[in-house]
Amino acid sequence: MGIIETDRLTKIYVRDVIDTEFGKLRIRFTDRKTVALKDLSLDIRQGEIFGLLGPNGAGKTTTIKILMGIHYATSGTARLMGKPLGDRSVKSRIGFLPENPYFYDYLTGWEFLDFYGQLYGMPKKARRAKIEALLEQVGLSHAANRPLRGYSKGMVQRVGLAQSLMNDPEIVFLDEPQSGLDPLGRKEVRDIILSLRDQGKTVFFSSHILSDAEMICDRVGILFKGELRSVGRLGELLNQSTGEWEFVVRGVDEVAMEHWRGRLARLSQVEGDYWAVCKEEALTQEIIRDVVGKGGMLLSLTPRRESLEDYFIREVQGRRS
Ligand SMILES: Nc1ncnc2c1ncn2[C@@H]1O[C@H](COP(=O)(O)OP(=O)(O)OP(=O)(O)O)[C@@H](O)[C@H]1O
Ligand SMILES: [Mg+2]
Repeated sequence: MGIIETDRLTKIYVRDVIDTEFGKLRIRFTDRKTVALKDLSLDIRQGEIFGLLGPNGAGKTTTIKILMGIHYATSGTARLMGKPLGDRSVKSRIGFLPENPYFYDYLTGWEFLDFYGQLYGMPKKARRAKIEALLEQVGLSHAANRPLRGYSKGMVQRVGLAQSLMNDPEIVFLDEPQSGLDPLGRKEVRDIILSLRDQGKTVFFSSHILSDAEMICDRVGILFKGELRSVGRLGELLNQSTGEWEFVVRGVDEVAMEHWRGRLARLSQVEGDYWAVCKEEALTQEIIRDVVGKGGMLLSLTPRRESLEDYFIREVQGRRS
């Protein structure tokens, strides 16, 4: 049994359009329905890092909001830790970082986390220790006593992440945890997520940043227009071999290398080294033999594996209309 289970979750948002006319009120019932989620069935195992990926409007936030009890599903069911949604005993054991968090910004980082600790009923001493550890972990110790209104976007995201971990949750839901963060901040978030897994926690997050997801996810689900297009381990989803080869050579005569340009998929020069992509194995060998024979050195040769980004584009492209 999964720690997070959804069974044919469906969400249809309905908006009534109210038209007012001068002097009289006219209510127009138009059929403004958005099917944000269609029959989503997922089974997340304990201790897993699961990435829910998809383009804008795919239904990622909707999924997380339903799981958090912020929105109700139109149909279908879900269970967290084996209990139906809304179970109070579960709420205290999960953490949540919303998308684009907006917090009461007159509080300092410390006061903000202390407030959450109090909501969870943590004693003062435990709160203090936890806040210190979390601020350190998210790189905000220096800003503990500054009000949140003076925080940058990335700092708000970091303090939000700390907030989601205040109660030492067993499952952490993170909606775009890396948004607004610089590369260093993204690496820190990745490390935090990995350390959560080491502690046996389950992490369910949504992301647009595919390279980050690729580095940490045990499994990913690709959502497109509310439908789960695929779900699985990256190793299963991604083509292990694209048939392309990538190599880097050093000390090669420019004329010798340029000779091959027309037959290579890509060729660029980086500080004197040549980086090339070739679509055929035999041709790759021929080129390497040639340039090495002319005094060049082979620095690396690797078969090109499909990246999550390649896969994502393959799945989603052409389906936008
Ligand atoms: N409160 C709402 N009322 C009406 N429609 C909504 C509401 N919230 C979301 N939607 C619609 O539901 C669909 C899914 O939105 P959702 O926010 O879940 O997508 P997302 O995958 O999180 O996108 P993003 O990557 O931009 O955050 C979109 O078409 C969106 O316009
Ligand atoms: Mg979203």
